[in-house]
Amino acid sequence: MIRTVVRGIGKALPRNKVTNADLEKIVETSDEWIVQRTGIKQRYIAEADETTASLGEAAARAALDNAGLTSADIDLIILATSTPNNTFPATAVEIQQRLGMTHGFAFDLQAVCSGFVYAINTADLYIRGGQAKRVLLIGAETFSRIIDWEDRTTCVLFGDGAGALVLEAQEGEGTIADRGIIAASLRSDGSHKEKLYVDGGPSSTQTVGKLRMEGREVFKHAVGMITDVVENAFAQAGVTGDDLDWFVPHQANRRIIDASAKKMEIAPEKVVITVDQHGNTSAASVPLALSVAVEDGRIKPGDLVMLEAMGGGFTWGAVLLRW
Ligand code: ACO
Repeated sequence: MIRTVVRGIGKALPRNKVTNADLEKIVETSDEWIVQRTGIKQRYIAEADETTASLGEAAARAALDNAGLTSADIDLIILATSTPNNTFPATAVEIQQRLGMTHGFAFDLQAVCSGFVYAINTADLYIRGGQAKRVLLIGAETFSRIIDWEDRTTCVLFGDGAGALVLEAQEGEGTIADRGIIAASLRSDGSHKEKLYVDGGPSSTQTVGKLRMEGREVFKHAVGMITDVVENAFAQAGVTGDDLDWFVPHQANRRIIDASAKKMEIAPEKVVITVDQHGNTSAASVPLALSVAVEDGRIKPGDLVMLEAMGGGFTWGAVLLRW
C-alpha cells in the first residue's frame, strides 16, 4: 500500500530580523503588549530583493539537499501562498524555473494560513493516486507586503519566511505504525470572510490591497475550529492526544496554541512553538516550525505528529502523520 512519507525538509528566512523594540519606533505599541497578547518577540521581514519566490526557492533547495535529491527527482511542486510574486503565473511555476526544472508540473494553492495543511493533503492524494512519485511542497509568504504598517492591531503579528518538504511514495503495510500521512480533516466557511481578509484583488479593486482583521473575532472562533478538525483526525486514526509525540500548530498566537493544546489534553512539552521567533508567517508557519523541531532533534523518524492551522476564509484543517 502506497504511503506519502517525508524524505526531506528545509527552511528559509529573510535576512532582516525585526524585534518588538524595532516596531515601537514605527507604531504606538510595546514589547510588553505584543509578548503578553501573542507571545511574539521578533519576526523576519523581507527586503526588496527577497520575495515569496526567492524564499520559496531557498527553502526548496534546502529540503532537496536534506533529502539527497535534486529537482530532477521531483514530479510536482505545490506552493501554498497568499502572497504570490505575480497575480499569474503561479509562483510555484517560477520556483520550478528557478530550480532548473522543465519537466513535471507546478501550481499554487491558496488557503491563507491553512495553505500548508491543505497542500500536504493535496500532495498526499496526488502521490497515493499514482500521479506523482515525489512532491516538493512549499509554504512561502511575504505578508509584510500586504500589511498596513500604520495599523498596530495587525502589523505586529506577521512575519515573512518559507518552509519546504520533499514527500515521496513509499510502500507500507497500511497500519498506523507506518511512516507517512495517516489522516486529514479540512474545513472552510466563507461566512466569516469579513473577520480576516485582504481589501483588494485583481477582479474587485484592481489593487493588491491590505490585510484587515478583527483579531478578537478570529480569536473567539480559533480554538473551537482547531480542536474540531484535530479531534476528527484523531478519530479517523483511532488515537488520542496521549499517543501524539508532537503537536505542530499554526503559529499565530501563543494563547490560541496553549488553549487548543489544553482543550485536547496535549501535554505542553509536546507542543512546538516558534511564533516567538517568526511571528505569524501564514502558510509558511507550519513547515517553519517543523523544520526547527527537526533540526534541533526533537522530531525524529517514527514520531506521531499532528499539524493544524486556521486562517482567512475562514479555512481550517489538521493532518496527522508519522514522521
Ligand atoms: N500595541 C498596543 N496596543 C494595541 C495593539 C498594539 N500592537 N494592538 C491593539 N492594541 C490595543 C487596542 O487598541 C485595544 O485598546 P482599547 O482597549 O483601548 O480599545 C487593546 O489593545 C485590546 O485590543 P484587542 O484587539 O481586544 O486585544 P486582544 O487581546 O484581542 O489581542 C490579538 C489582539 C493579538 C490580535 C488577538 O485578538 C489575536 O491574536 N487574534 C487572533 C489572530 C489570529 O490568530 N489570526 C490567525 C489567523 S491569521 C491568517 O489567517 C492570515
